[in-house]
Amino acid sequence: MGVVLITGANRGIGLEFVRQYAEEGIEVIATCKRPDEAKALILLTDKFPNLSVEKLDMNSDEDLKVLRLTLEKSDIQLDILVSNAGVLLKESFGEWTRQSFVDTFDINVIGAAMLAQSLIPSLSPNGKIVQLSSRLGSLDFGGEGIIDADSYSMSKAALNMLATRLAVIVKESSQCVVSMSPGWVATDMGGTAATLQVNESVFKMRRSIGALTPSDSGRFIDNQGNPLPW
Ligand SMILES: NC(=O)c1ccc[n+]([C@@H]2O[C@H](COP(=O)([O-])OP(=O)(O)OC[C@H]3O[C@@H](n4cnc5c(N)ncnc54)[C@H](OP(=O)(O)O)[C@@H]3O)[C@@H](O)[C@H]2O)c1
Repeated sequence: MGVVLITGANRGIGLEFVRQYAEEGIEVIATCKRPDEAKALILLTDKFPNLSVEKLDMNSDEDLKVLRLTLEKSDIQLDILVSNAGVLLKESFGEWTRQSFVDTFDINVIGAAMLAQSLIPSLSPNGKIVQLSSRLGSLDFGGEGIIDADSYSMSKAALNMLATRLAVIVKESSQCVVSMSPGWVATDMGGTAATLQVNESVFKMRRSIGALTPSDSGRFIDNQGNPLPW
């Protein structure tokens, strides 16, 4: 048994992580922006006594502080932190706006950094942080495959650097930080043409997360744990 905390847990990949880890009997802390409106998550809490829900808007320092204090007060140590919340705000070149770049970076990069800073003190000695990244963040692939996702691709490249920096920060411990691409997944973000169903993607990622060791820290990997080019 362990404790898993997941951000952006009210739909898509985050919600599926909640369902699969809760089914496994692990204690799950699911976080989302508006718990009162998270209908699918509330339904899961009826089914799983090992699931609790906490408010966390990735833009809110106040939410992060409250979450950190809640974990500290209950002496909860996290075995896995799934940093999943993210946005893809599509805009084509010529119509780029400063605001959508700011919003994308605020959630996908700065939010993930602040989350890690707040919760690493509550990470267990062998704890793992898994950041949901994307092949679109690979400099080698050049943001291939999707149009009008420039700010998103840039944000995932920056998120990959965050994994590298965090790996350096925890390197004296047995903790592990990775950036993981879930594949192209059929969610609101991935759309219906995606090649993977959400349950398949999360099943593969859970298996890969289970196999991670401290020597994997700082890697950028796919849902099967294979290396992706930076
Ligand atoms: N689907 C794919 O093919 C794919 C591929 C590569 C990487 N990824 C990555 O995988 C992760 C999950 O993607 P997904 O497909 O499940 O996306 P999704 O269906 O669009 O869900 C995104 C989740 O992030 C949450 N979120 C957005 N802004 C937030 C904020 N400020 N605070 C808290 N939560 C926030 C959303 O909550 P609300 O409902 O409250 O907005 C939602 O729960 C993302 O990081 C994404 O970049 C996805």
